[in-house]
This record gives sequence, structure tokens and C-alpha cells, in this order.
Amino acid sequence: MIVASPSVTLADSQLAPLLYLATRAPSAGNMQPWRFRWGGTELEIAGFGGGEISALDHEGRASALTLGGLLEYLAIAATTVNFAAVIALEAEPAKAGRWATIRFQARAGAPDPLAAALMGRCTDRRDYRGGAVTDPVFAAIVDDCEQYPECRLHLRDRSEYTDELLAYVAASERFFWTCKPVQQQVMKVVRWSAEEAAATRDGVLWKALGLGSSAAHVLKRSRRWPVQLLLNRLGFLDAVDRLTYTALRSAAGVGLITVRRPAREAFVAAARLHTRAWLRLHAAGYALQPFTGASLYAADAETGRLPREWPAHQRRVFAPGMAVLRRAFDLPPDETPVWLFRAGRSPGPLDRALVTHRYDIDHVLRHDRRSVNA
Ligand SMILES: Cc1cc2nc3c(=O)[nH]c(=O)nc-3n(C[C@H](O)[C@H](O)[C@H](O)COP(=O)(O)O)c2cc1C
Repeated sequence: MIVASPSVTLADSQLAPLLYLATRAPSAGNMQPWRFRWGGTELEIAGFGGGEISALDHEGRASALTLGGLLEYLAIAATTVNFAAVIALEAEPAKAGRWATIRFQARAGAPDPLAAALMGRCTDRRDYRGGAVTDPVFAAIVDDCEQYPECRLHLRDRSEYTDELLAYVAASERFFWTCKPVQQQVMKVVRWSAEEAAATRDGVLWKALGLGSSAAHVLKRSRRWPVQLLLNRLGFLDAVDRLTYTALRSAAGVGLITVRRPAREAFVAAARLHTRAWLRLHAAGYALQPFTGASLYAADAETGRLPREWPAHQRRVFAPGMAVLRRAFDLPPDETPVWLFRAGRSPGPLDRALVTHRYDIDHVLRHDRRSVNA
């Protein structure tokens, strides 16, 4: 592990606001699987939980992507208090018992201009107001790619969508409601009311998914699989289809971030790049929604690594994925899709009730004076 020096000691009063901003980072299902240990000089980040929603974190990739987003947030947040975050990723997080260690160095100059977007960025699953991938904000995102040589970004204007791309993304969205082991885990991250979301401080409000209040009314009474099956037969899946098609068509276009080597560090880097893109888009009046199932499971299907507990006919949903993505984005054979997203002109700020919560800092931070080292 390479640790840069000289690093500085932060007062607790400096760390708290920094972490408050950093933990506005996106996380899969808003489960905020991060925990911090602070000894005054080093900030250790460890993963937490995930067992309950392991199908949504297949092979730890959602965790790696969440970590990348958190690190980018943390690095940007540090600049607001004149520090640079020096990040050391653990190659074997399970063995080390942590994901990464951060030290801080004094830094002069203005904060990262994207700091202003940290609080307002959000996942927006509403319809957008078009826009164009020729907008200068996309050129700035393409420029960011230079910092991440292991990643590539492919953009497609909505006029370039292929029918098979639309159909594949819609199928991958339907999948979350048709594959029992996955649906059961999705149910664990859905919050049915603003009160429930405010009390748990994690998860995603059903209303934010845009899937209709009548389905919510039935589903929330019983999170049981047979209820989902019945709803699916009564038109729920058609609603998911309509939502996905309309959502994609309302965007400026779609983007796909790929990696050349499907290693954990590359996934973390891809998420850092994606998070910068998300912040840039937000600052430019654009909104974004990820479609990570369509990208991650396509690669798994090709390499035969989809979860065994998924029924074979469910796994087949992703069988055409790589071919569809390769054709839609002209991907060379050595690129692995990581992060598919749509982006378009924002329809305006998200209703406050739909903004996701975060755990209090005290819940995720442990002070550990013993780990202060000279
Ligand atoms: C690794 C990862 C994967 C995600 N995948 C999806 C996705 O497939 N579809 C979606 O609508 N949101 C997805 N999200 C967005 C999260 O649900 C969202 O970040 C979280 O609920 C917090 O909300 P916020 O982004 O508004 O702060 C993903 C986020 C992360 C970090």
C-alpha cells in the first residue's frame, strides 16, 4: 500500500463537515454500506452489511462502484476545507478488513468547482426534457476520461438508439420484478412512505421509482412474491416497459462507461469517472439515471458468472446483452461494460420528499484514538 506524506492531522470539527458532504454520495439502493474509522490522521473506510442484499451486490461490484462514488465525493469535499485526500485502495479488502485508507495533505487554491454540486446531485427517474450529447458538458466529461486511462466513455444521442438497445434495457428493468431472489432483495431497499424513509434514513422511496401508487398500495401490504406475480400478470410489467422506453426517449442520450480489465480497481475508477460526470451534468442543468443491471449483468452473462440461484430462464434475459451493447456503442471486444446511464435536461428540482436520506455521521463514524500513528 502506498501512502503519501507529509499528511496532516485534522481536528474532529474539520472532519465532520467533510464527511457530511462525502456521504451525500450515491450508493446502490441507498444502503450507504460505508463505515469510517478515524484516528486523527488516517480515515479508514470499511464496507458494512450487504449480506441482506447480496444479489444486488453480485461479486462485490455494486460495493466497488459505491466506493468509487464515495471516494470521488470525499476527494472533492476535502478541497472545500483546503485539503487534498490521498487515497490508498486495499487490493484485498476482505483480508485487510477495510476498503481504503485516506490521508489528508494541505492544499492551496480554490475548491474543486464541482463541490457546489455535491449536495444537489441526485438520481432522477422522471422523464427529462431532451438536450443533446453535443452540449459542451459532455465534452467536459469526455475530457475527464484522460484521468482514468483504464476506463472509456461511449455516448449515443437518442436519435442513435437501436430498437434492440431499448428492448434490452427494458427487459433488464423488468427483470428486477420477475426474478424472485432479486425482487425479494429489491423489496428490502424500497421505502413505502416518506415517514418510513425518514425513520430508516436509507433505501429508496417507492414514489421515486415512478411505478404508480396503485401497485404500491397492493405491494406494500404484503412484500410476498405471489403478490408481485399477480401484479405482473395485471399489467405491472407493461408499466415498467412504458416507463423505461419513455424515460430513455426523453433523455439527450445514453452513456456507457467501460473498463479494459474487469478488476476491482478499474470498477472503482469507472465509478469515480461516472460520479464526476454526474456532478458535471447536475451543475449544467442535466439529470441522470443509472441502469447498472443492463451493463453489469451483460458481462456476467457472457462469462457465465450470473448468480446460480437465478432461474435459467431469468438468466437468459442478459444473454443478448453484450452483443446488443457492442453493436449499440461500437465496443471493441476487450471492453467490459460497467455503467450504463441516461442523461437529459432536468425537468427541475426533485420534490423534496423524493430526496434520499443519509445516516447521521455518528452512525457511520467511529473515533479510534489508538490508530493515530506518528
Ligand atoms: C452502484 C450503483 C448502482 C445503481 N444502480 C441504479 C440503477 O440501476 N437504477 C437506478 O434507478 N438507480 C441506481 N442507482 C442509484 C441509487 O439508487 C441512488 O444513488 C441512491 O438511492 C441514493 O440516491 P441519490 O443518488 O438520489 O442520492 C445506483 C447507484 C449506485 C451507486
